[in-house]
Amino acid sequence: MTGGSRGVGAGVVARLAADGAQVAFTYASSKERAEAVVDAAVEAGGTALAIRADSLHEQDVVSAVAQTIDRFGGVDILVNNAAVGSFGTITDLAMADIDAMLTINVRSAVVAIRESLAHMGSGGRIINVGSINADRTPFPGQSVYALTKGAIASLTRGLARELAPRAITINNLQPGPTDTDANPADGPLAAGMLGVMASDRFGTAAEVAAFVSYLAGPEAAFITGASLDIDGGFAA
Ligand SMILES: NC(=O)c1ccc[n+]([C@@H]2O[C@H](COP(=O)([O-])OP(=O)(O)OC[C@H]3O[C@@H](n4cnc5c(N)ncnc54)[C@H](OP(=O)(O)O)[C@@H]3O)[C@@H](O)[C@H]2O)c1
Repeated sequence: MTGGSRGVGAGVVARLAADGAQVAFTYASSKERAEAVVDAAVEAGGTALAIRADSLHEQDVVSAVAQTIDRFGGVDILVNNAAVGSFGTITDLAMADIDAMLTINVRSAVVAIRESLAHMGSGGRIINVGSINADRTPFPGQSVYALTKGAIASLTRGLARELAPRAITINNLQPGPTDTDANPADGPLAAGMLGVMASDRFGTAAEVAAFVSYLAGPEAAFITGASLDIDGGFAA
């Protein structure tokens, strides 16, 4: 999994490890947070491995998959979760921030999928963490972030056709506002988001992780190519 040191990703590591998966996850800079995620998974009886790999760099992602194969022998489930959001109008955003979003949110997911598929057998699962902003962007300043998440939805649909013959599913989970460092439930933007949602609260990393767990399991074998919302009615 990419991006497991904090937020949604840390919740997914905890959940999949508790489910019995051996979980390798990447992080960019939060070494101590990543080690704490590993320690918590191990204390709960699970197995986890933290790998420093910056999704800005293709070789880091290639190396992370290779390290996962070395340690665990294969990849049954790939979760593409690492992403960044820089917000501003199309003219205000710096091209460097636009490039980082395109590279981390989209290109690195393509790299992780290509590398993992070489080691993924029948019954494999690819779960992309997109965003409800792919379908609804109620505020100005989100266009490029939304573009990256729309690309993930399109990639998911297209790859479902390529991977079904190998009995591998690929799906795109689209969270709405979820309480993390990137989007704190008590942050300055929270009231505006709650104003466009059906729910009166943010989601939690554990709720998104439970959905990932379901999609990773055998009961979800007939779900593929789907963009599935977990958004408190943000798109309702
Ligand atoms: N929170 C929301 O409201 C919300 C809503 C819709 C969709 N999402 C999506 O959910 C996913 C997780 O979001 P979040 O809110 O949990 O974000 P977050 O709290 O900012 O955590 C991001 C995670 O990704 C890692 N990461 C970021 N840049 C990376 C890079 N260049 N290379 C490797 N890892 C990197 C971070 O590692 P470090 O700790 O090392 O930085 C961290 O583990 C993202 O795909 C996001 O777009 C979130």
